Amino acid sequence: MLNDVDKQLVYIGADHAGFSVKAELRKYLVDSGYEVTDLGCFSEDSVDYPDVAREVGEKVLETPKSLGVLLCGTGIGMSMAANKLKGIRAALCADESAAEMARRHNDANIVAIGARTTSMDLAKKILDTFLNTKFEGAQADGERHLRRVVKMNEMGGK
Ligand code: RB5
Repeated sequence: MLNDVDKQLVYIGADHAGFSVKAELRKYLVDSGYEVTDLGCFSEDSVDYPDVAREVGEKVLETPKSLGVLLCGTGIGMSMAANKLKGIRAALCADESAAEMARRHNDANIVAIGARTTSMDLAKKILDTFLNTKFEGAQADGERHLRRVVKMNEMGGK
């Protein structure tokens, strides 16, 4: 079992379309040993996904080494909204391969998953892969990935 200090911090959020999937994934992550903070929503009442994406994104930005998980119907709105925050690299992942590459090459700090388009089994596999894969930018042969991520971080825009 990991010490509390060694636990990976995960912020999770969803809109109404992802509410029930979030509840199961949150439990799965806690049972797997992650330190999980649920930033809502907390019922199936309709909410606006940009509000939740902003909350999760801001927490990820202010908490070193944390990662985020966002769920909406397709994952599209959540990923679009989160990527408006400078420093957030949210990847919409529909399979494990995308989750792996999003971490290895893009240093994604948020994974977005479509709650209505992804089976629960696959969503868990995507999370496992995303949370357990390291960015290659710190490796001797990974300089190009670091350079590209730095270029992304330097981009402004709305
Ligand atoms: C809500 O109906 C739906 O539009 C939302 O969850 C999401 O899929 C948007 O990208």
